[in-house]
Amino acid sequence: MTIPLSRPPVDDEMKQAVLAAMDARQYILGPNCREFETELARYTGTKHAVLTSSATAGLWMTFKALGVKPGDEVLVPAHTAFPTIEAICFAEGTPVFVDADDWYTMDPKDAAAKITSRTVGVVPVHLYGQPVDMNAVQALAEEHRLWLLEDCAQAQGAAWQGRRVGSMGRVGVYSFYPSKNLPVMGDGGCVVTNDDEVAARCRRLRDHGRLNKDLHAEVGFNLRFNELQAAAARVLLRRLDAMNDRRRAHAARYARGLEGLPLALPSERPHARHVYHLYVVATPRRDALAAFLKERGVQTGIHYPVPSHRQPAVERFAPPVLERTEKLVREILTLPISADHTEAEIDEVIGAVKEFFDRRV
Ligand SMILES: Cc1ncc(COP(=O)(O)O)c(C=O)c1O
Repeated sequence: MTIPLSRPPVDDEMKQAVLAAMDARQYILGPNCREFETELARYTGTKHAVLTSSATAGLWMTFKALGVKPGDEVLVPAHTAFPTIEAICFAEGTPVFVDADDWYTMDPKDAAAKITSRTVGVVPVHLYGQPVDMNAVQALAEEHRLWLLEDCAQAQGAAWQGRRVGSMGRVGVYSFYPSKNLPVMGDGGCVVTNDDEVAARCRRLRDHGRLNKDLHAEVGFNLRFNELQAAAARVLLRRLDAMNDRRRAHAARYARGLEGLPLALPSERPHARHVYHLYVVATPRRDALAAFLKERGVQTGIHYPVPSHRQPAVERFAPPVLERTEKLVREILTLPISADHTEAEIDEVIGAVKEFFDRRV
């Protein structure tokens, strides 16, 4: 039996909620979506939540709502999922790639060094569930009058100094992709903000730029969310803190079990509540370890082997060398974690990793 990298939750309570939404015969942006938006805003500590079809869609809508135009530069970590970058490009902005700090997230010093007269905003990504150093990033944004968009796709429920991620920037964006901390059974995402105008513009953009049924104020797109997914997600939102506690307990179990091995382990940044969307270790022997674990039936991943600034799709921006990012992507390895993994599974992974280092294979 393979131990999967992630195991999305499925149970009777979720199934009942989906069946009830089916019976209601109202499938797009109906009562479950409206309630889910209210609950998400309350959970995050923001005034508005705008559901959409994915985090990529949410990021794109937000860049449009923030007025990104050709030539505008947006500071973004190179070490992120490519959609963060893609949305900037789709909104016709220019991504300016920032190197990683010791915690694999955006290095505020490198970000500061890359500010020019064309810089309009900064996009910290709470990667792997670990909050970015928000004090430093907020200070940078204030000093240079930049907007701040938190990419929280991997960090639902994470917090910085007691505040939930997504509530500290002008806008936050969530993903509900099935492996995420708050998953749905397909694609989904959400924009959270205290800004009335950004929220209204995103609502309009997700539904063909509509002001009402017959009037289109601008060209938007179909980026709507749906009732079946919202019904299941509402069940899971009530459990999100408990699911994150379980991820944290698994991370602590890994830390105890893997201690003393020649392996860099993730830890929690001071002032942060890490929600361990991914459990990422690092070793120069990464490829051999991954192959060994595969033989032992343990699925692993690399998030991400090709850093964003080295993707062929963005070659035209001629990104500079980013030493830390380029080194870390050669060594990182993601081990299985999710709220639905058992302790026995985590112990099995620990045992296999130990065996690898004991045997010096
Ligand atoms: C950091 C980050 N941003 C954005 C996205 C895009 O999310 P979605 O798949 O919901 O469009 C992802 C998805 O993997 C992500 O990890």
